[in-house]
Amino acid sequence: MAKAVVESGMKKVKYIVAVASGKGGVGKSTTAVNLALALATLSKDGKGLNIGLLDADIYGPSLPKMLGITDSVQPQVVNGTAFVPVPAHGLKTMSIGYLTTESTPMVWRGPMAGGALTQMMEQSIWGELDVLVVDMPPGTGDIQLTLSQKAKVSGAVVVTTPQDIALLDARKGIEMFRKVEVPVLGIVENMAVHICSNCGHAESIFGEGGGQKVASEYDTRLLGSLPLDKRIREEGDRGTPIALTEPEGEIAQSYRAIAENLMTALAENTVKAPVISIED
Ligand SMILES: Nc1ncnc2c1ncn2[C@@H]1O[C@H](COP(=O)(O)OP(=O)(O)OP(=O)(O)O)[C@@H](O)[C@H]1O
Ligand SMILES: [Mg+2]
Ligand SMILES: [Zn+2]
Repeated sequence: MAKAVVESGMKKVKYIVAVASGKGGVGKSTTAVNLALALATLSKDGKGLNIGLLDADIYGPSLPKMLGITDSVQPQVVNGTAFVPVPAHGLKTMSIGYLTTESTPMVWRGPMAGGALTQMMEQSIWGELDVLVVDMPPGTGDIQLTLSQKAKVSGAVVVTTPQDIALLDARKGIEMFRKVEVPVLGIVENMAVHICSNCGHAESIFGEGGGQKVASEYDTRLLGSLPLDKRIREEGDRGTPIALTEPEGEIAQSYRAIAENLMTALAENTVKAPVISIED
């Protein structure tokens, strides 16, 4: 019997969006997961959006844990060459964390990093997706280059915190994407104000307006802001992202607003790009 034809790769992915930052630990993975879940609640022409989530962090994959996927779960392999992305809360997800265990030596990951990312992009059966959200590792290195070379990236979302040093790194991140001709779709300001878990009062401990300032400086937009809130970290650690557990809460609403602004930015960005049509 002939093998069933499996179409792996990203040919039917409408938009590929990298969630990135110049600096580590600013909340890229948290943003990527909650943004992907928020995107999945949106609909177009009466149908919910199909969303994928790819962990491009080869050295420090954090999506399996944040999504609550246990160590024993592995992507199903089809025809010995293609992976079925792991379903998680309605998302199609892929991470090197599903393919390695904690004892897999880090050393092989170095030279393999670009190759592993390419494999996860091209050998996963993504199918038809409206958006594939890509959680990037920190910095402006090889993985960023691999992604921009091997994938048709629609644009990047740059996550920053309001501290000067993070904003400086956000600027570096934006400049790097410009060099590789990936449009910056907007900025997400994370941990913007601190919400006191006792009384709920909000305080800007790291300063105000930084994300907006950088967005204006680079002619892009502020997609939204998230507070520094203990529940975001706790739910992340627990593998039950807040966009899912408190869908009507203020934080989930903020992620949804970011998701809507992102879809607008993607649509405008597509219009702005030169249109090449091929008639058949
Ligand atoms: N808005 C927030 N409020 C409270 N905690 C947060 C918030 N955003 C992220 N965190 C917490 O901060 C830590 C770092 O977040 P995360 O892992 O998403 O950052 P990252 O930018 O992906 O890091 P890395 O550069 O290592 O990939 C996590 O413990 C996360 O739960
Ligand atoms: Mg991360
Ligand atoms: Zn208080």
